[in-house]
Amino acid sequence: RGVVLDYSGALKFFRREELDMLAPRVQAIHRQMAEKQGAGNDFLGWLDLPASIDQAELEAVKAAAVRIRESSEVLVVAGIGGSYLGARAALEILKPYFRPTPPRVGDPEVIFVGHHLSGAYLEQLLNYIKEKEFSINVISKSGTTTETAVAFRFLKQLAEEKYGKKGAAARIYATTDRRRGALRRLAEEEGYTTFVIPDDLGGRYSVLSPVGTLPIAAAGIDLDPILAGAAAAYDACSQPDLERNQAYLYAALRYIFYQKGKSIELMVNYEPALHYFAEWWKQLFGESEGKDGKGLFPAAVDFTTDLHSLGQYIQEGRRLFFETILAVEQDRSALVLPEAPGDPDGLNYIAGQRVDEMNRQALRGTLLAHQDGGVPCLVVKIPELSPFFFGYLVYFFEKACGMSGYLLGVNPFDQPGVEEYKKNMFALLGKPGFEERRQQLLARLEK
Ligand code: PA5
Repeated sequence: RGVVLDYSGALKFFRREELDMLAPRVQAIHRQMAEKQGAGNDFLGWLDLPASIDQAELEAVKAAAVRIRESSEVLVVAGIGGSYLGARAALEILKPYFRPTPPRVGDPEVIFVGHHLSGAYLEQLLNYIKEKEFSINVISKSGTTTETAVAFRFLKQLAEEKYGKKGAAARIYATTDRRRGALRRLAEEEGYTTFVIPDDLGGRYSVLSPVGTLPIAAAGIDLDPILAGAAAAYDACSQPDLERNQAYLYAALRYIFYQKGKSIELMVNYEPALHYFAEWWKQLFGESEGKDGKGLFPAAVDFTTDLHSLGQYIQEGRRLFFETILAVEQDRSALVLPEAPGDPDGLNYIAGQRVDEMNRQALRGTLLAHQDGGVPCLVVKIPELSPFFFGYLVYFFEKACGMSGYLLGVNPFDQPGVEEYKKNMFALLGKPGFEERRQQLLARLEK
């Protein structure tokens, strides 16, 4: 069982030969990646990760997760970007929408922080946890990311006030670089439990490492089926031939649409649990491809919600985009609409139907409407939303992203542009070493 890309909803927007013509390039890039050649080749650690999971490390992660669960009502996870989105995506997919029981020691709530600079959020979080038993997982590969470091300073202080220095150290788990960075130094000085983000793993490709696995396991989710799913995708996406490799097929089709002038890819979901998966995907593709003046802009919509806000534009506005629809095949609920005597709301024609079936008909109807409106539609068919398919999807899109970036002619594994806002922020905050830039920026802002 695997994920299948159905491109029948895009057939009238390209010719078969366009795919055939890309096949030799896809094969060459496949070889190049397998041989660990090409731009960014020192960041290909994700490529074989599902087949080379370090069992000792995995056991250490699971043991730490048990310790966290047994001592905490809340786990606070501090991280941003690649050090945040994968775990959040997993939890949103794999945990229920509403907690069946209040958070308690043994089944902690996981709260994310350090992914923005909202003082209100941070202050309210600190108030929320101060009377609760909590642990902290701070995640930063560089160990210097401002948003994460600011949140962590507050969390560390609160933990030390509450548990004492030693007690706090036993509740803080740091996931960071093996050697470099302020967080590594601090963790060693304070004696935190640490997990390593390998050098050859960029943030956005790191969800199957302790960056993702520790918070996921601490939330009570079994890691084994996630890793089994990633391994299944690893096998399924190991073929060089794009006809037999769904990830490459997806990469090739999105390249074809890009070349035809589509500048936006809309990732569509019909299940709120997939919202953060799309956020993870946006970072994966946006950071990997948006450089050198190139790249599809990855955007995401939640349907049917956004059909009532953006649906008009998608149907009839500028023809800028194609859609990639995440279609979950197995119903997640058996909820059936009841019959109402007298049919006061006019819904009796669908009484007896599952709500999930209505959702499926909404997907099918929208798919045809958008095609008729000139939007090519790709459908990623996902058998079910389970840990196995979460792992599968992660590897599927990572592999597709590597291929896609190389087809585009960019290095899919760097992110030089991310630094620009940081330099300006540092200068405006008065960080030593940024004095000249500060003067220039202040002069521009005062104009
Ligand atoms: O993909 C990336 O490299 C970025 O999104 C980083 O993950 C993000 O900036 C966080 O960086 P760090 O883990 O160094 O704190």
